[in-house]
Amino acid sequence: MSILIKNGRVITASSDSIADIFIDGETILSIGKNLDVQADEIIDATGKLVMPGGIDPHVHLDMPFMGTFSSDNYETGTRAALFGGTTTVIDFVLQTQGKSLQSALQEWKGRSDNNCLGDYSFHMAVTDYNEDTKKEIQHFIEEEGIVSFKTFMAYKGALMIDDRQMIGLMQEVKKHGGLINVHATNGDMIDFLIAKHKSEGKLAPLYHYLSQPEITEAEASGRFADMASYTGCPGYIVHLTCEGALNAVRNATRRNQKVFVETCIQYLILDASLYEQNFEGAKWVMSPPLREKKDQATLWAGINQGLVQVVATDHCPFMWEQKLMGKDDFSKIPNGHPAIENRMELLFSEGVQKGRITLNKFVEVSSTNAAKIFGMFPKKGTIAVGSDADIIIIDPNQTHTISASTHHMNVDYSGYEGWELKGKIETVLLRGKVAINDNECKVQKGYGQFIKRNKVSQII
Ligand code: URP
Ligand code: ZN
Ligand code: ZN
Repeated sequence: MSILIKNGRVITASSDSIADIFIDGETILSIGKNLDVQADEIIDATGKLVMPGGIDPHVHLDMPFMGTFSSDNYETGTRAALFGGTTTVIDFVLQTQGKSLQSALQEWKGRSDNNCLGDYSFHMAVTDYNEDTKKEIQHFIEEEGIVSFKTFMAYKGALMIDDRQMIGLMQEVKKHGGLINVHATNGDMIDFLIAKHKSEGKLAPLYHYLSQPEITEAEASGRFADMASYTGCPGYIVHLTCEGALNAVRNATRRNQKVFVETCIQYLILDASLYEQNFEGAKWVMSPPLREKKDQATLWAGINQGLVQVVATDHCPFMWEQKLMGKDDFSKIPNGHPAIENRMELLFSEGVQKGRITLNKFVEVSSTNAAKIFGMFPKKGTIAVGSDADIIIIDPNQTHTISASTHHMNVDYSGYEGWELKGKIETVLLRGKVAINDNECKVQKGYGQFIKRNKVSQII
């Protein structure tokens, strides 16, 4: 099967020109003006923007968490991702403390194998680093193609590791060419504040926010960067939200170390005033919480300064019924919010259309940088000869409105209900196949492939 995309404005992280793209099978065969080729299908992209498919390196599908499971499984989550122009996601396998990394991987494969519509990969979350875990690291990087290891500096008792474990893991991961991801907040400070608020009878969602002040994130981000500098291990801070934490990274970059930063779409466009509305605020109970307007400004600036390389989602949806688990106690509200379907169009509308970022920057932070940092470039993350034909076609002038009544995520509310967006992703190709067109999904579960990734030391 061959496809010719004609006359689109083709944007990559570093180029912008009107061109045709000829796709043969799963990959791009040629790019140029007025290509003289025969194709099975022609897509006229005149007046449209043609960009690499989005990569969301931070999603939680069908994940056991806080006494329940995130409500999108691999089928519904990757389908919704495709509708929103995200062709590849990276999900998280969570080690159970006391058990092996491999047993967790087998459990996650049981839920994901043959169920994805879009391409996917895994980060391995190490929640119990010991002599046995240490022996598994090389195998994950070299055999499983899982080169990034997630760590939590919070969620004590379930996911958190201490600094001794962190240093040991960093040394082992660096030795084999991998990367450490981190949820960088000070778990002990947060636990202290949660207990304090509960003892004072302060139980509303607002106190979730007040239990995780900026200092808890700034301190942990700085500490993580210091440990990464000491060990020489590349680091990646997930869901960074605020000025204090970004300043800690700014200092680290002065030492010329590799500490990459991801923020998420919600931290760029939503703020903590949403917690001031009784239990409704539970829709945005996530960790870290939404911050202040001044933090949004810092994050947009950080993107343009090159300090923030990735805009992800931390997609971790829960039905309203599940959120109600914390009706009388904010600490029992499952943490997370849905965005896998909305990230690309929100970033385009709020970022590009409002003049905050350029089109090239949009491609960089929604796709290319994640592919590079996580060892998938240039197979993924760009439009180039030989790359996978993962392509989105955007009509920049079409407006539409976000609503839970029309979205495809398996969740019964939207954190962005009624938001009007300018720019619609009309067509999505994944490995040379039209996956989305005219608001219809054209691929079945099982089409999505597990992407084995390369050692990051070979790319960054
Ligand atoms: O609130 C969040 N972020 N839920 C998912 C787990 C995590 O910390 O990323
Ligand atoms: Zn986290
Ligand atoms: Zn997360």
